[in-house]
Amino acid sequence: MKSNKIILESDFIKHNTPIHKIEDPLIKDSGIKLFIKREDLNHPELSGNKWHKLKYNLTAAKENGYETLLTFGGAYSNHIYATAAAGKLFGFKTIGIIRGEEHLPLNPTLSFAASVGMKIHYVNRKTYREKSSSEFIKKLTEKFGNFYLVPEGGTNKLAIKGVSEIISNIDIDFDYVCCACGTGGTLAGLVTGLNGRKKALGFSVLKGGNFLLNDVEKLIYESAGKKYNNWDINLDFHFGGYAKINSELIEFIQRFQNITSIPIEPTYTGKLLFGVYNLILNHYFSNGKNILVIHTGGLQGLMGMKNNVSKIIGANYDSL
Ligand SMILES: Cc1ncc(COP(=O)(O)O)c(C=O)c1O
Repeated sequence: MKSNKIILESDFIKHNTPIHKIEDPLIKDSGIKLFIKREDLNHPELSGNKWHKLKYNLTAAKENGYETLLTFGGAYSNHIYATAAAGKLFGFKTIGIIRGEEHLPLNPTLSFAASVGMKIHYVNRKTYREKSSSEFIKKLTEKFGNFYLVPEGGTNKLAIKGVSEIISNIDIDFDYVCCACGTGGTLAGLVTGLNGRKKALGFSVLKGGNFLLNDVEKLIYESAGKKYNNWDINLDFHFGGYAKINSELIEFIQRFQNITSIPIEPTYTGKLLFGVYNLILNHYFSNGKNILVIHTGGLQGLMGMKNNVSKIIGANYDSL
């Protein structure tokens, strides 16, 4: 079997994730049907959008004879966690260049990454900002040898191609597909997969996410070679910035989970669903529309938020 088939058709991965209809009294009379595609279920460790963003990068690395993947991220990064998992699953050595200083004991994300063999290398914030410069990459090559470079968040042209395939795996009738935006790669992939049909709506999880509009447009153009105008990014539900949370968000998540039994986390899918509910209740979508939310995984990140969440709920956080 060719190496790309071994990766792309791997038995480890659930290739056809389910779509659930959300039955919630709060939106029952809104005239809107809400669905969620459970990409979080595609693999316990290489989950959500991460599998889609990495799969063609992994095949490119194998086909070009690379034995090592090197990537960048923060200390709680879902992408670092997923790249480490991908290395273990598909036989790559992995190196994670982590922003900031080492804190011991390692947090749950880095502890997992190290346990599956990722070599962790810390750089200060100033150096980290140079992560795309050829000089810095040259220094990393001198230090670590040859590697396949996966950018921060895994966002590149091959990631867009991987994410675009989520669309062909949707077997319900929908009008809007919605996702959380960090780098915008996932939204760009969904828009590319839609190829001008339906609408895509991203929700920025970052404060000051205006730059995402340009970035996503660029990513789509690089990948599809054209512009589309059937997408937009909502900038209103970042809750103060990346990984910032408050009691309203946590209460929303707890309620959502009680009603649906679907686990979500506050950094991405929690903010996304909060935003989608808000738009539904404020009649942003016209009557009769079907809205499909993509659950992009990231549940591992919850472990690193224990203290913050405990403070907010005023009790020891065990699970949300
Ligand atoms: C769980 C999860 N959902 C959504 C996103 C946003 O994806 P993107 O960076 O492609 O916009 C990320 C990461 O960046 C993520 O980890």
